Amino acid sequence: MKTALVRGVWSLVLALCCLTVWSLPARAQQVDPAELSNAVNEIEQIDRMRSGLASTIEDSPTEPTLQTMKEVCKPVGMRAKQLGEETGWQVKQIAKKYRNPAHAPDTETASEALDLFEKNLNLVGFWQEETIDGQAGTRYYRRINVESSCLACHGAKNERPKFVKEKYPQDLAYDFEVGDLRGMYSVFIPYLD
Ligand code: HEC
Repeated sequence: MKTALVRGVWSLVLALCCLTVWSLPARAQQVDPAELSNAVNEIEQIDRMRSGLASTIEDSPTEPTLQTMKEVCKPVGMRAKQLGEETGWQVKQIAKKYRNPAHAPDTETASEALDLFEKNLNLVGFWQEETIDGQAGTRYYRRINVESSCLACHGAKNERPKFVKEKYPQDLAYDFEVGDLRGMYSVFIPYLD
């Protein structure tokens, strides 16, 4: 009688353990597809914002003012930061030839992603499992190509606007041509645990 009880209790403990082990990773190790598609959508909006702002400068019949010149890529960085604060994602722009040193590749996987985009001209975006600072999650990458409207500030070194030359003495983000890979967006969505 006593043995049967002990055996019963142990079976229950074992079953609970199995259940916990089985259910935990299943819940924690996945990104919610709705959240991922949300990230894809937000990045498309940010990208459209930049292209829109850049083309207003390109199409402007008058000489752009310093203020309008400043308002192309800076707001993109600000929106990325804000989006991260709203969602808990880590949202970044990353480039090998960066203008703002905060946008240098931050992990080996980010450098590899840039290499992939460079090699595969038709690769627009992808996501993969990654662990950043001990936190597991999904990381989404999306390429950024150079358009003609970008050349006003990312074209020939000597033709960069004065504010760029002054404000970014370590600038690497020039001498691009239309169609070149300018960099990528990265969104890291941590798993909830
Ligand atoms: C009016 C000038 C201007 C134009 C036009 C412009 N950029 Fe930028 N770009 C900048 C500046 C300034 C920065 C650095 C902003 C910062 O400090 O975060 C920058 C940064 C970036 C970055 C972040 C990586 C880095 O190098 O720091 C990307 C990506 C980028 N630009 C892509 C583009 C694309 C694509 C276009 C055209 C659609 C474009 N830019 C047009 C001025 C410009």
